[in-house]
Amino acid sequence: MEELLNYIQNNYENFIEELKEYLRIPSISTLPAHKKDIARCAYFTANKLKNAGLSRVEIFQTEGHPVVYGEWLGAPGKPTILIYGHYDVQPVDPIELWDNPPFDPVIKNGKIYARGANDNKGQLFTHIKSIESYFRTAGSPPVNIKFLVEGEEEIGSEHLEIFIKNNSDLLKCGAILISDTDLYAEGVPTITYGLRGLVYFNIDITGPDRDLHSGTFGGVSPNPANILAKIISELHDQNGKITIPGFYDDVLKVSKKEKESIRSLNFSEKKLAKEIKVKELQGEKGFSAIERTWIRPSLDCNGIISGFTGEGAKTIIPSKASAKVSIRLVPNQNPNKVVKQFKRFINKVAPKSVKVNITFLHGAPPSLTPLDSNVTKAASRGMEKAFGKKTVFVRDGGSIPIINIFSKRLKAPVVLMGLGLSSENLHSPNEHFNLNHFKLGILSSAFFMKEISEVSR
Ligand code: BES
Ligand code: MN
Repeated sequence: MEELLNYIQNNYENFIEELKEYLRIPSISTLPAHKKDIARCAYFTANKLKNAGLSRVEIFQTEGHPVVYGEWLGAPGKPTILIYGHYDVQPVDPIELWDNPPFDPVIKNGKIYARGANDNKGQLFTHIKSIESYFRTAGSPPVNIKFLVEGEEEIGSEHLEIFIKNNSDLLKCGAILISDTDLYAEGVPTITYGLRGLVYFNIDITGPDRDLHSGTFGGVSPNPANILAKIISELHDQNGKITIPGFYDDVLKVSKKEKESIRSLNFSEKKLAKEIKVKELQGEKGFSAIERTWIRPSLDCNGIISGFTGEGAKTIIPSKASAKVSIRLVPNQNPNKVVKQFKRFINKVAPKSVKVNITFLHGAPPSLTPLDSNVTKAASRGMEKAFGKKTVFVRDGGSIPIINIFSKRLKAPVVLMGLGLSSENLHSPNEHFNLNHFKLGILSSAFFMKEISEVSR
């Protein structure tokens, strides 16, 4: 282990330079204009896996973005750990709010700034580097390793799902390790055991066939902007509850014990309000802030556009209005069922005077991962060794669509050993990643491999 730790120490600056190179590739999965960058990024990922020492590395084309696979299976009798991550990133707009260009990484105050620095290239890279360190020092890792790195996580992992279905033998493993979540706080080793699911919609409202003079027609023509705003406002009641009929039917009640364990984390709502620079938090009555993001569903308009929004004034009634809406789901809500409920509700509350078109864009089921599995225990011990502190167990409000498919198709336990921080601007301008966590992540991964190699499963 000492030689390995020295290797990490001595090569740390190179690791960061390589990460920078990775971050220079604008692999935005949702924008067709970046298809070439996606291909380049898959290739870059594959090369890093090869250089790390894996014996077989392949890029698999799909109907969507390519899947990168790598393996080394030279430890017979030892468990096989599948490491999952994603090389795709979110769009960068509003680009004017970035202090530095999103794909030109810079380091400031021990943090690396770039789109994907945290989510997920930085976190994924910790495992590539820990495995490389094993190959360069011990000759090989102490367990069998598979890597599965996809390019569609940020858009719902549609084609990875098909890939897993068709390649369950190739991906066969004893456990799945993912670093794509957050630490509870800076320097606190954290295992996440629950994530929310998601359904994501586009709503288009069409009224008159062109923009109209708001004097000539104001008072008689339906106004798609007014109507869309009203529809969105009707999705919550005064208590912050979502008004869609049947929406809460399948929401799993959380046990007293779990509520207690959440309360014992002493989460500061004041600090959170301060962090996001709002005067006060909001949400469903009767639940704490942390409960509202971890164990309760939520609904948000992600964007809304209509009519004239340029400089100055232009007196019109817009012809169209559109919004994107996301709903975060908790166990045991079913995405398909919620899609139907949402569509039915919107069509019911929209007036007949306009045309309403609702498109379901993508979704993910909510997930819970086992706390008592050998991998969770090994990950917890691995993190403790690296961070020098006790691991905390949390849920989180984000989503990783493929988790349930892993459980279903590969029948192996998943463990979420994330290294981000909620304050690191994921999906937002100036995304960054704490380099101390990057280093601790490489160490956690290395310690985890050793821990899991020593337990039989
Ligand atoms: N890494 C995030 C998920 C995450 C972030 C979990 C923070 C917990 C804490 C992941 O890359 C992500 O953003 N997923 C999308 C999935 C969606 C587009 C299907 C999400 O949650 O919006
Ligand atoms: Mn993300």
